[in-house]
Parts: sequence; structure tokens; C-alpha cells
Amino acid sequence: MSSSPRPPDVGGEPARGYLLDNARAEAGERFAWLAELFDGVTRGHFDRLGVGAGSRCWEVGAGGPSIPAALAAAVGPSGHVLATDIDPSWLTAGGGYEVRRHDVTADPPPEPGTFDLVHARLVLVHLPERSRALATMAAALRPGGWLLVEDADTALQPLACLDDSGPAQRRANRLRDAVRELLTRRGADLRFGRTLPRALRAAGLVEVAATGSFPVGGTACNRLEAATVRHVRGELLAAGLADDAEIDAHLAAIDAGELDLTLAPLISAWGRRPAAG
Ligand SMILES: C[S@@+](CC[C@H](N)C(=O)[O-])C[C@H]1O[C@@H](n2cnc3c(N)ncnc32)[C@H](O)[C@@H]1O
Repeated sequence: MSSSPRPPDVGGEPARGYLLDNARAEAGERFAWLAELFDGVTRGHFDRLGVGAGSRCWEVGAGGPSIPAALAAAVGPSGHVLATDIDPSWLTAGGGYEVRRHDVTADPPPEPGTFDLVHARLVLVHLPERSRALATMAAALRPGGWLLVEDADTALQPLACLDDSGPAQRRANRLRDAVRELLTRRGADLRFGRTLPRALRAAGLVEVAATGSFPVGGTACNRLEAATVRHVRGELLAAGLADDAEIDAHLAAIDAGELDLTLAPLISAWGRRPAAG
């Protein structure tokens, strides 16, 4: 299932852009396990914010098909779901939602001023131009429409294993630090989650609030971690942040079920565009 490791940077030029790009098979695995871990949380927010029959929704940086499909089921034939991504190749044409390639940091808002809900999960944390992306998403809302942004705050809880009880757990935590270092070098803001309420208010939204959650242990955490480490293996080696033996031992420990892996908290924040008038 895995493809060959990404080649090291050419000519000493640092690699740029989104680290966990969708071109690799591991991206699809990651979307499936992210869905298992977080779709229940996300769908709960959709329900609470009133997404239902006839709603118009824009899913930004959709990645895999699960959230666009859930929105399409919620809004029904009288609604509209637009799913966009800088690389939409994991999205399913004919899935009851419209698919478009769209760069939220560079392209204008599609159908400005029309959406009841705009949602992005685990997208803005990666993007250096995140305030421009937020402005684009806010501009797509109708008056009274809701923006829901969900992002990790990796600095708030940086461990892969909370129970740091042995060498395998400590190795997992070292490798999590190394992946975080790669993300930072690509421009990710690993403290972004905590800033979301302030960022939504700065984007002109009202009735802003937020909540946070993270899973501890279980198959989905294990499989997500394995897919992530395999995805960035070439980058870790090229950057000298880990060696083959360490990565192989970590993947074997995951397979052996020895680790109770966890994730950074997902901060879900929402706010609405003031009603006109
Ligand atoms: C970590 S994945 C999250 C996917 C999905 N939202 C989820 O929660 O499972 C980040 C997604 O953002 C997309 N992305 C990265 N940069 C983007 C940009 N500038 N504009 C739109 N999407 C982007 C990636 O291609 C990827 O699908």
C-alpha cells in the first residue's frame, strides 16, 4: 500500500507547502482514520449549528469524502454542498456534493455571501497564510451563517504517549517531536488551536465559542500514527531527525499494540457572520 519515500530536497532548497500532501497513498489512509476519530465530534457541531434540509455548506480542505458525504446527507436534495481542496483527488464525483479544486489561501471565495455553514478541519494549522484563508471563508458566509473551524493545538498536548512508561513510549514521543519539527519548518502554527476564538472575532464574527477533545488509545490512533510516520519517513531521514532503525522499531511497536497513542487536542471553534441590518 505504501509508495516509495519522498526524495530528499534537491539542491539544498528547503521543501515548501503542505507536508502531508494528498499525492501519496498514506494520505487516503490518514483521511479514513481521521474520519473514525473526529467525524462524530464534527457532525455533532453541524447538528448544533442547525445544518439540515436545504442548507448550503462549503467544506474547505475536505481531504477525504466522509464529511462532504455527511453534509450531503444532512442537507438533502434541496441543499447544496461544495467540497474543495488544493488536491481534490480523494473526493468522489457523484457523491451528492460538488467537487472543486480551490486554494483557500489564494483563490477568491466561491459564491460569496451565500453559505449557511463553512467548515475546515485540520487545514488552517498547516497554512502560513491562515488569516487570509479565514477572511476568504468568512466572506463566503451569508449574514447569520456559521463558520466552524477545527484545528489541532499540538503544543497544548505534545505527547504521542501520555503514559511515558518505557523505551517504546519514549521513542514514540521523540518521533512525535520530530514530525512536529517538520511541520513547523513548513510553516505550521502548532499553537493555532488556542487562538481560534480570537481569530474568529478578528474576522468579524459574533457569538464565538469553542470546545476541545482528543482520543487516547485504540486502533484508529495506532493506524493514523503508522500512516503519518510512513508518509513523512523520507522527510524525517533527509532532515536527520530520525533513522531507519528508530522508525522501524516504532512501527513494530504500533503493530504489537504496545503503545496507547494519543493526539493533540482538536479545538473546534465557531462564530457567525452578523445578521444584515
Ligand atoms: C490534514 S488534511 C485534513 C483533511 C480533512 N479536512 C480532515 O479533517 O480529514 C488537510 C487538507 O487540507 C488540504 N489543503 C492544504 N492546503 C490547502 C489550501 N491552500 N487550500 C485548500 N486545501 C488545502 C490538503 O490537501 C488536505 O486535504
